[in-house]
Amino acid sequence: MPERPDPKKCREQDLGLFEITHRDGSARIGKLHTKHGIITTPMLLPVINPNLRTIEPREMWDSFGVDALITNSYVIWKHDDLREKALADGIHCLLDFPGTVVTDSGTFQSYIYGDVEVGPKEIVSFQRDMGVDIGTILDEFGRPDMTREELDRAVEITSERSELSLTEAGSELLLNGPIQGGTHPDLRAQASFSMGKAESEGRGFCVHPLGGIVPLMEQQRYRELFEILLASKSSLPPDRPVHLFGCGHPILFPLSIALGVDLFDSAAYAIFARDGRILTPEGTVKLEEISEWPFPSNSLHGHTPEQVKSMDLQKRSEILARHNLEITQSELAKCREAVRKGTIWELAEQRSHSSPYLREAFVWLQDQLDIPDEGPVGDSVLRLIASTDPLRQGGESLGEDIEYRPHILHMQALLAMRWRFPGSWWDSSGGDPDRVVLIEGTPPPWRITSMESVISLLIENPKTVILISTPIGPIPFSLEDVSPWCHLNGPEAIWHAVPDDEEITDSIDELGLSGIPVTRYSPEELYDNDPDKGSIIREWMDRCSIVDKLSVLCAIHPLDACKLTEGMTSRRSKTDRIVNVHSKGDHILSPRLTDGGISMALEGARRVNELITSKPPVFGIDSDDEDFPGIPRVCVIDDAIPFVGQGRNVMHGYITGADPHLIPGQPCLVVNSKGELVAHGTPLTSHLEMAFLRKGIAVKVREGAMKNPN
Ligand code: GUN
Repeated sequence: MPERPDPKKCREQDLGLFEITHRDGSARIGKLHTKHGIITTPMLLPVINPNLRTIEPREMWDSFGVDALITNSYVIWKHDDLREKALADGIHCLLDFPGTVVTDSGTFQSYIYGDVEVGPKEIVSFQRDMGVDIGTILDEFGRPDMTREELDRAVEITSERSELSLTEAGSELLLNGPIQGGTHPDLRAQASFSMGKAESEGRGFCVHPLGGIVPLMEQQRYRELFEILLASKSSLPPDRPVHLFGCGHPILFPLSIALGVDLFDSAAYAIFARDGRILTPEGTVKLEEISEWPFPSNSLHGHTPEQVKSMDLQKRSEILARHNLEITQSELAKCREAVRKGTIWELAEQRSHSSPYLREAFVWLQDQLDIPDEGPVGDSVLRLIASTDPLRQGGESLGEDIEYRPHILHMQALLAMRWRFPGSWWDSSGGDPDRVVLIEGTPPPWRITSMESVISLLIENPKTVILISTPIGPIPFSLEDVSPWCHLNGPEAIWHAVPDDEEITDSIDELGLSGIPVTRYSPEELYDNDPDKGSIIREWMDRCSIVDKLSVLCAIHPLDACKLTEGMTSRRSKTDRIVNVHSKGDHILSPRLTDGGISMALEGARRVNELITSKPPVFGIDSDDEDFPGIPRVCVIDDAIPFVGQGRNVMHGYITGADPHLIPGQPCLVVNSKGELVAHGTPLTSHLEMAFLRKGIAVKVREGAMKNPN
């Protein structure tokens, strides 16, 4: 096999920066810039015991694609020969590993053995002098069984050591700032806040690991684990990767990643292998108990379980460790791919069925998503929902937990907050609706299967709100092509199931239609509608669809959206969908055929910007909390305007403000400090991330508004 080349050092100015390239709710694909390469997260740092290398680090680099690993600086410091070699030749040479080397500090040894012989300053300078990429301060391990006072003290001690450790690290050694606090969400949030803001000479921590969680994982107390993860995330700076210290079982990857974990580390691949245990994404199996391999791997290829059972202990450990590492790596690749595709929550949902402990945690999380607690956990959950793109390209499988998926909850919240019944009806009358008709028992595309029925219902009574019953709740007919509602994968029967009256009443109340009589209606085949009225109704419905999408997805007031679409004309695709929307002779927007959303055109962006009366957003200054603040804006510094104005993407670090209602994946405007349009596009990160991140793309620009910037 050809040798893998050594990594490239990151640019000097990028050292320690984290950029987000894809996100799905709180999950993110990131790049962490280090002197020994740019590592893609989420990833696992395999633990290397410098005294017992089950798999050689060089082999990990060459054959397993491991870009970064973790070893223990205290173990090296304790052994004279290792210490001398590490100080003389550097840690990369000691380990024979060209990639990123992370080191821990001895805290875990102090938890196991009661104490360590090294001080906080000394262990940091040792890590620095060995040339470590990311070291760890000597934090104080907070065991879950400690009293609140003891845990408070562990947080305090850790925090007190931050500044001196950052000073000692200097400009070359990046540092982990661990978060302690036992199982107390408030304490974890407090610890995150103080560790997040700790700095010395302008430098803060590079990564925040969650510490003290190994006992929780050993006891499978996953609910508490995820609770403290959410609490910590609520007050950590969003530009820092989060690491779960000591977590390396693949069963925990999807949900941890869905909640925003970027790094894992574990010796499980090697320790489990020594006891003849095999890691799988669904749990652990014992070699002794199997006749066939549950998951294939290159390492096991050509060997039967019987053959491996009969190997000597050393050889068996090695082959199983390689297999365990491969499985771990492939599960992480699967998770990253799920983040790119927007299906990480679905993967977490599937995995939750692998263990009753994990399922308990998952169900607890679903309850949180449904009705978040007050406090840091609830804050994080709300942030997760709000940063999830509500729309999905392509199909989505229906499952029993689908209603709790964050993007579905997000869309439902947007509908409840921003959907309004039409201001005027197709016959130009005004006033409240006389009735709601719920179309049920019919599959999508509803514009094909139900259009004539809908037209006939609207002829019968123009003041009718038409809703469609879907397996994930009713939606206005105007949003009939919004995915995943129109794109659920499942047997035909899913479209024929009818909800009970109570469910219908609840959903109708949510849409602000309480008290209006509801008729349930199954479309029939043949109608003989008046074609003239039919075409007027169709035009009115097209406009309603655009108005509703602009208000629900772009926060534009329905009255403004009506003004914008006055006299609109559009073309239809072969599948009878609106393609380009023109108004007053200009192309203003195009419905997105892939997911039912909206793509602005430059003239549309200009017009929606003119509708906004509030000042452009500035980080740190709160904006008014309105249902319809207008299309979200990102305000860029003057230096960026000539580039962005000509269509270049908006990069992090050049932004002075972003509206809090910005939704990654949905349209936004880019403006200057006076609120003038510079460009329009799609944000890749949330407004909070834009406030912190210094690297990577913030807004993918569709069009610049300044062809001739001065
Ligand atoms: N490894 C596992 N848990 C911990 C922890 O809490 N702190 C440190 N430094 N290392 C760990």
